[in-house]
Amino acid sequence: MRRVEELKQLREQIKLGGGVDKVKKQHDAGKLTAWERIELLVDRDTFVEFGRFVTHRATELGMSSRVAYGDGVIIGVGEVDGRKVAVYAQDFTFMGGSVGEMHATKIAYLIELAMKLGIPIIGLNDSGGARIQEGVDSLKGYGEIFYRNVMASGVVPQIVAIMGPCAGGAVYSPALADFIIMVRKTSYMFITGPKVVKAATGEDVTFESLGGAEVHAEKSGVAHFIANDDRDAISLIKKLLSYLPSNNLEDPPYVDTGDDPNREDEALNSIVPEDPEEPYDMREIITRVFDRGSFFEVQEFFAPNAITGFARLAGYVVGVVANQPMFMAGSLDINSSDKISRFVTFCDAFNIPLFTFVDVPGFLPGTVQEHGGVIRHGAKIIYAYSQSIVPKVTVIVRKAYGGAYIALGSKHLGADVVYAWPSAEIAVMGPEGAVEVIYKDKLEKADPEEREELVKSFVSEYRSRFANPYFPAGRGYVDDVLVPSETRSVLVRTLSFLLSKRERKAHPSKKHGVPPV
Ligand code: HXC
Repeated sequence: MRRVEELKQLREQIKLGGGVDKVKKQHDAGKLTAWERIELLVDRDTFVEFGRFVTHRATELGMSSRVAYGDGVIIGVGEVDGRKVAVYAQDFTFMGGSVGEMHATKIAYLIELAMKLGIPIIGLNDSGGARIQEGVDSLKGYGEIFYRNVMASGVVPQIVAIMGPCAGGAVYSPALADFIIMVRKTSYMFITGPKVVKAATGEDVTFESLGGAEVHAEKSGVAHFIANDDRDAISLIKKLLSYLPSNNLEDPPYVDTGDDPNREDEALNSIVPEDPEEPYDMREIITRVFDRGSFFEVQEFFAPNAITGFARLAGYVVGVVANQPMFMAGSLDINSSDKISRFVTFCDAFNIPLFTFVDVPGFLPGTVQEHGGVIRHGAKIIYAYSQSIVPKVTVIVRKAYGGAYIALGSKHLGADVVYAWPSAEIAVMGPEGAVEVIYKDKLEKADPEEREELVKSFVSEYRSRFANPYFPAGRGYVDDVLVPSETRSVLVRTLSFLLSKRERKAHPSKKHGVPPV
């Protein structure tokens, strides 16, 4: 009995991590503790902890007096809304959640277990990075985590919430995961901190301005979601999980959304303005076509000229990719290429059918883009669509010009079905640019007034010849021209037969391709 009581006491003590003072400090900083985060995430009475009594080797600098069971990280399995997941939560109250050898071994073990069980991995990160006192043993630990992140990639979904510091090489485990959620104000990620930046470049930066949640959600594209606090981050994890299968051999969860599959929407017939240069909100089309309230945007604030996100169509999870004419006329650039190609690759890995809505005038011109490598970045979109074998359906809403037409889910890269709206313009380039090339001589000879008239008439001739959906439909590159209001019901029917798609055409045998990066 005495031993049972001792064990109970010990377990209570372990739950306190680094002690009451440290827990208070954590709360005062606006953060929850590792246990509080896990309890918010998993369904009641479902969590099974592993490695509760693991401790560091007590030989390192000044650490013999600092034994803490668990070594600053809690790992285990539990259920989230009835679905099994593997979870680790770093405990900032013990040595700043720093990653020592045993701490890392626990996380690496969890990733292996998640792969064996075919369940998603959720990381709740809050750590000062490599534990300085453990030297290279800590680095070895990180290496073993990174290796397993890579092995698990495309096998089980990996989601990481950054809920505190994440600095130096530590950033690479989240970066290798599929999704990063960052908490506003309390989290940051950077390779080198403000002091080193100051010494190296003379720049004055704060933690927030260097690597805060906003910076990574808007500018770098490192973060996919931004949360207002720890609770919000946990809610986002739950929502994201509801769209994902548990592993690459399963389909994502079906939910009866109750939305009428044959619902017609008259507003879609007039959503695209008559003037092809006038913008409109592509999000409006997406939210009207897919099941009501189901659109969940990914990387909303990064490269807003492209839209990526999950939605449901008659209850089935789909991935949506679209151009956004409200930003940069919907043209593709370096950042949107990265955003789209990564999303397409994720959907393909996890059996999520892809729906692409196209209104793209082309790739963004200029030295900034060319010198930044828009060629190799844009190539990623082509690579991602070409290698994807999930059902792929494309709707050309308005412009689809040049290489961007090919890249964004064209038949030529393996789309199963391509639809167009009557407003579609599909050609090598826009009419204004095209007339300048093909009628160069005539235009050069004309005086300014004549020139304007000539351009008008050439543009109208070009539009009726090329800038419409019927010419490509005549070639079979567009399967049908849709009345926009009927798009939802057509897509529902299309998906219902594509769900049985199994790629029968073998890819050439190879170890792996060499994607443009
Ligand atoms: C050991 C660490 C630690 C670390 C923090 N602590 N980071 N112990 N190794 N890396 C300890 C502190 O000594 C302190 O111990 C406790 O955690 C809480 O830290 P505080 O500094 O009091 O907290 P706070 O003021 O909130 O500051 C947090 C912090 C700061 C900004 C993270 O601790 C810090 O700058 N730490 C060092 C960060 C760092 O440079 N890490 C290495 C990055 S390079 P006590 O005993 O007082 O409670 C890296 C390489 C990875 O990680 C390579 C992988 C390939």
